[in-house]
Amino acid sequence: MTAPLNLRSAEMADANLLLLWRNDLETRKASHNMEEVLIESHFAWLDASLKSPQKRCLWIAEIDGKAVGTCRADKLDNAWELSWTVAPDARGKGVAHQMLSKLVHYFNEPLMAQIKVDNIASIKVAERAGFVLDTQEHGVLFYVYPNASSMAH
Ligand SMILES: CC(C)(COP(=O)(O)OP(=O)(O)OC[C@H]1O[C@@H](n2cnc3c(N)ncnc32)[C@H](O)[C@@H]1OP(=O)(O)O)[C@@H](O)C(=O)NCCC(=O)NCCS
Repeated sequence: MTAPLNLRSAEMADANLLLLWRNDLETRKASHNMEEVLIESHFAWLDASLKSPQKRCLWIAEIDGKAVGTCRADKLDNAWELSWTVAPDARGKGVAHQMLSKLVHYFNEPLMAQIKVDNIASIKVAERAGFVLDTQEHGVLFYVYPNASSMAH
């Protein structure tokens, strides 16, 4: 049985790890912006993100104290948009499912996620966590996760 997964807030000390994961080829393929991110802009982005928790939240997922993935929430007008990446050496073991099924319970507001149509693993993870397909546009699936109060109706 897998050890429990813990989500903690990201910090500047995670910058190099997050950049490594962001520039991993599979992560780039799954992203809107597939360009390699440069270290200077990454540090500036992370610093600004950590200073604006009302607009963006970042977590590091750990199992047995080892960082195995990251999740992000970006504030939109009426929802939070979630995105996630599993460390390349921790993929294929259900880590994304553990991260996401935990994270959705942190929110009372509606959630959404954008997933490219060919990202089968992420589609499965999102649907298993309770996300429902809303629309599709230009090869991107828009998933929504109704918040607890709207689910009660
Ligand atoms: C996509 C990603 C998050 C998946 O995380 P993971 O924890 O490694 O996911 P798993 O390998 O455990 O796969 C999740 C599910 O998809 C299934 N799956 C994986 N690859 C598959 C494929 N090619 N075809 C069909 N099913 C597949 C797994 O069997 C598993 O199904 P299950 O829950 O029924 O057992 C991870 O690979 C990743 O970080 N990729 C790069 C970044 C990325 O794509 N982020 C998401 C952007 S939306």
